[in-house]
Amino acid sequence: MAKAPADKPAVAKAAAPKSLTRDTASILAAARTGSKPGPVSKADAPARPAAVAETASTVVKAPPAKLATAPVLPPKPVKPAAKKGADAEQDRRGFLEMALGSFMATGFTALSMTGGLFGLGLARFMFPNVLAEPPSRFKVGFREGFPSGKVETKYVAQYGVWVVNSDVAGQQQIYALKTVCTHLGCTPNWLEAEQKFKCPCHGSGFYKDGVNFEGPAPRPLERYAIRIADDGQLEIDKGRSYHEELGQWADPESYITV
Ligand code: FES
Repeated sequence: MAKAPADKPAVAKAAAPKSLTRDTASILAAARTGSKPGPVSKADAPARPAAVAETASTVVKAPPAKLATAPVLPPKPVKPAAKKGADAEQDRRGFLEMALGSFMATGFTALSMTGGLFGLGLARFMFPNVLAEPPSRFKVGFREGFPSGKVETKYVAQYGVWVVNSDVAGQQQIYALKTVCTHLGCTPNWLEAEQKFKCPCHGSGFYKDGVNFEGPAPRPLERYAIRIADDGQLEIDKGRSYHEELGQWADPESYITV
């Protein structure tokens, strides 16, 4: 015997919960009032996508209005090209190379100048200019060229000597006076009108024979050795000097009698 298929739906309907039945009724009631969409039949189905499309279009169209009122952002800064960085690095290297080159050039120049000066000094040391200094011995001519009472000043610049023919303690002598003030070393001037040596620095005065008589000079002028050379000329030797205060003017090598 075949089972009656109509029994199953009856069982299912009887087994359905009471709350579900009540919900379906409430849904249908809400659909009729229009507050909540209810179940749709196949005949009404096309109408719903239109409503959904309308709602979607409303939702989709909203963003453009939002974009229109959005603030305009400033453009992003453009990153410098890598080539510019390379150029800057190259410029920096060039500057450093130039600075280093200048420094080395200056150093080599200073080194060259130092070497040159050292070479000149060495050459000067190896070959001294002995002729720069005047000889300590020199001839000034015959005694006839120095008349009595005369102070010869023409050897002052070259030899630093006055050649004098004068009376000294009752004896006529020719002697050579050193042109150095005994105060602080200035060079006095011979004043023919006043017949004295006068120092321009502090005013010391010396008689014709070299004895000090005014100013701060503490002692007489000095004499150099003098003699008659083999050729008859007077020869002065600056390598030897004679001090009056020491009694050395009495030495016959400090004068020539006339
Ligand atoms: S140096 Fe001659 S008076 Fe002073």
